[in-house]
Amino acid sequence: MLKSEQGTAALAIVYLNGRYIPEASATVSVLDRGFIFGDGVYEVIPVFGSHILRFSEHLARLGNSLAGIYLDNPHAEAEWRDIVATLLERNPGAENRSVYLQVTRGAGERGHVPSKALLPTVFAMCNPIPERDYTRGVSAITHEDIRWQYCNIKVTSLLPNVLLRHRAKERDGSTEAILLRGDRVTEGAASNVFVVHGRRVATPPKDHSLLPGITRDLVVDLLRGAKLGCEEAKITRADLVSADELWITSSMMGIAPVTRLDGRPVGQGQPGAVWREADAIYQAFKVKGVGGAAPN
Ligand SMILES: Cc1ncc(COP(=O)(O)O)c(C=O)c1O
Repeated sequence: MLKSEQGTAALAIVYLNGRYIPEASATVSVLDRGFIFGDGVYEVIPVFGSHILRFSEHLARLGNSLAGIYLDNPHAEAEWRDIVATLLERNPGAENRSVYLQVTRGAGERGHVPSKALLPTVFAMCNPIPERDYTRGVSAITHEDIRWQYCNIKVTSLLPNVLLRHRAKERDGSTEAILLRGDRVTEGAASNVFVVHGRRVATPPKDHSLLPGITRDLVVDLLRGAKLGCEEAKITRADLVSADELWITSSMMGIAPVTRLDGRPVGQGQPGAVWREADAIYQAFKVKGVGGAAPN
């Protein structure tokens, strides 16, 4: 359900396999491989006012995720753009919205080896993006990265990520689990990680151990376009715990300052000066695409 500006509940319209229908009547087969195996991929695209942030990059990543699980892209880019535009049109109300796109391999007799004859299930929905208050920052825990080896693919099988965020919340009400493979920081359970020492900003380089976050890439571009700069470099546990500032990024959170890590303050225990600079640049860009990298 979407809350309209008047506070009255409006029925959410979702997209399912070519139809725009009320959420309550959108159903898929119990044999859908998304349900049985978590055999699918997804995207979450933020929309600020009328600006769809980094739309092309999200669609490109969706294409890469589909290729990563040996699934043909069911739609050309223009068709995806049309689906998203129509969905936004049919779900007016909130100023800032997210569009969720999901493609699963479709429904068929249960078996590990996927049949090439299946019709993929294509689903999309639109949700308001909640307002964030980062006045006090957010807290995080560190945790061993318990996920698989293809974290660069945005798959719907998110049970490890769900457990990690659950543990973060249970431990001390934390928002995020920052993950390490051995001594190397990879990313958050649903975000990318940036560390700041003095005015030096760094984030781990992209490889199979982390999702190529669209916000991560945008922040790297924006920082490089401004005077700050950003290194893509290996980050160790020692780098993490000695950081003056720690940020996590995602399409839903933007750039969130982490002010407590494993129960201890990060730097001064408050959102830092470099975060304020970076966030101001990001906030300006996200609405209109101004202040650095090219809009789309
Ligand atoms: C594991 C993981 N890493 C990073 C991100 C951030 O990616 P993006 O900035 O594209 O939202 C997400 C987003 O959900 C995620 O699930």
